[in-house]
Amino acid sequence: MAKMWAGRTDGMTEQIADDFNSSIHFDSRMYRQDITGSMAHAAMLAAKSIITNEDADQLIAGLEQILHDLDSGALEFDMTCEDIHMFVEQVLTQRIGDVGKKLHTARSRNDQVALDIRMYLRSQIDEISQLVTDLIRAVTEKAEAYKASIMPGYTHLQRAQPITYGHHLMAYAMMLLRDRERLADCRKRMNLSPIGCCALAGTTYDTDRYLEAERLGFDGICRNSLDGVSDRDFCVELMSALSVLMMHLSRFSEEIILWSSWEFKFVELSDAYTTGSSIMPQKKNPDMAELVRGKTGRVYGDLMALLTTLKGLPLAYNKDMQEDKEAVFDAVDTVQMCLKVFTGMVATMTANEANMKRAAQKGFINATDLADYLVKKGMPFRSAYKISGSLVALCIRENTVLEELPLQTYQTYSDLFDADLYEHIDLVTCVEKRISEGGTSTASVAAQIEWVKTQI
Ligand code: ARG
Repeated sequence: MAKMWAGRTDGMTEQIADDFNSSIHFDSRMYRQDITGSMAHAAMLAAKSIITNEDADQLIAGLEQILHDLDSGALEFDMTCEDIHMFVEQVLTQRIGDVGKKLHTARSRNDQVALDIRMYLRSQIDEISQLVTDLIRAVTEKAEAYKASIMPGYTHLQRAQPITYGHHLMAYAMMLLRDRERLADCRKRMNLSPIGCCALAGTTYDTDRYLEAERLGFDGICRNSLDGVSDRDFCVELMSALSVLMMHLSRFSEEIILWSSWEFKFVELSDAYTTGSSIMPQKKNPDMAELVRGKTGRVYGDLMALLTTLKGLPLAYNKDMQEDKEAVFDAVDTVQMCLKVFTGMVATMTANEANMKRAAQKGFINATDLADYLVKKGMPFRSAYKISGSLVALCIRENTVLEELPLQTYQTYSDLFDADLYEHIDLVTCVEKRISEGGTSTASVAAQIEWVKTQI
C-alpha cells in the first residue's frame, strides 16, 4: 500500500526498508498519550477557529472510540503502519472519513512524537517513584526491627567499627530518597510541552500552544521550536537518574549476596526469593539479587546508547532519534521489574543476629574505642593509637582478644588503664556511645527512621 506521505515519491518502498523504518512494534505502547494528545490538538484547532467545532467534535469522538477499542482489545495494531501516529490517523480516517485528515493541521510527527514520549515517561516516573517509596518503606521497617542488632561495620571490606544492622539498612533508605528526588527533578524539566513546534520552525496558523499544554497537564511549553523537536535531554536525564538508582540496588544486591553466603551467614533470604541448583542439592542461590546487579549494566547501556546516538546530530529532528524509545523503554521496564522484586526480597529477608554479633566480636573492631579511652583520660590521640595498636598486635601473637587481656597486661602499657576499660570496649557501649547526629547508636538510628518516615 502506498504511504500516507506518498506524493513527492510514489511511496512504494521495499518491504525490507519498511521493516527497518517502522517503529510501531515499540511505540504502540504510547497509544494513550498519542490519542489524548490528538484530542487536545483538535480542541485547540477549534478554539482557534482553524477547524469548525463540528469537525473537532467528530475528531474527538472518533479518537475516543479508538482509545476505547484499543483498551478493550476490539481494535488491534496494524503492524504495517510506520508508527503509532500513522496508525491512529489511518484508523480515524477510515472510520470518520475525510474529516480525519484535518487532525494533522498545524503539527508534525516531530512535535507529536516528542509530546507522546514526554507524556508517557512522566507517567512512568510517577510509577517508579511509587515503587521507590515502597522499597524505602520496606527497608525502613527492617531497620526498625533491627535497630539495636550489632554487626561489624566495614571499610575496605575489613572489619572496622561495630554498627547496628538498622544503621546499615538506613544508609540505603537515604540513597533511595535521593533517587526519588532525582526523579522528581527530572520530571520538572520533562513536563514542558513541545506540541506546536511542528516540524521544526513553528506554524503559520494562529495556534495556542498554552491551551494545549494546559489541557495535557504540562507546566509550560518548550520555548524554541527547534529545541522542542530535537531535545531528548529528558530521556537522558531519566536514564541517568535510573542508572544511579540501579547502582544503589546493585551495591545493596552485592551485600545481600555476600551476607547470605556460608562465609558470612548474616541474612537468610526467603525461599520465595531464592533458587536451587539443578545439580548441587545444598544450594540456595540469591538469583534475584544477582539479576538486579546484572541488569544494572543493562540500564547503564541504555543510557550510553542514547547519549551516543544524540552526540553527532545536527538540528532539528533526525530519524536517528527514533532510537530513543527502545533504550528508554527498556530502562523503565527493567527498573520497575527490579524494584518490585527487590522490595519483596528485602521485606522477606531475615537477619541472623547471633552471627552478626559474633562477627563483630572478632577482628579488634573496638580498637578505636580503646584508643579513645586513653584519650579521654588525657593521652594525646596519636600516642593512644600506638598503644592500642601494640595491644592488638599482642592479642594476635597470643591468640586472644582485647576483652580478655588481663588488666595487669594493660597497665604495663599505660598506667591510665583501669578496670572500667572493659565496659568501655564492650560492643554495646561502642555502639551506644556513638550518639553524634547520623551515628550508629540506637537513638540516632531511631531518629533517622523517624525523619525518613516524614519524607515518605
Ligand atoms: N517514529 C518516529 C520517531 O519515533 C516519529 C517521528 C517521525 N518523523 C519523521 N519526520 N519521520 O521518531
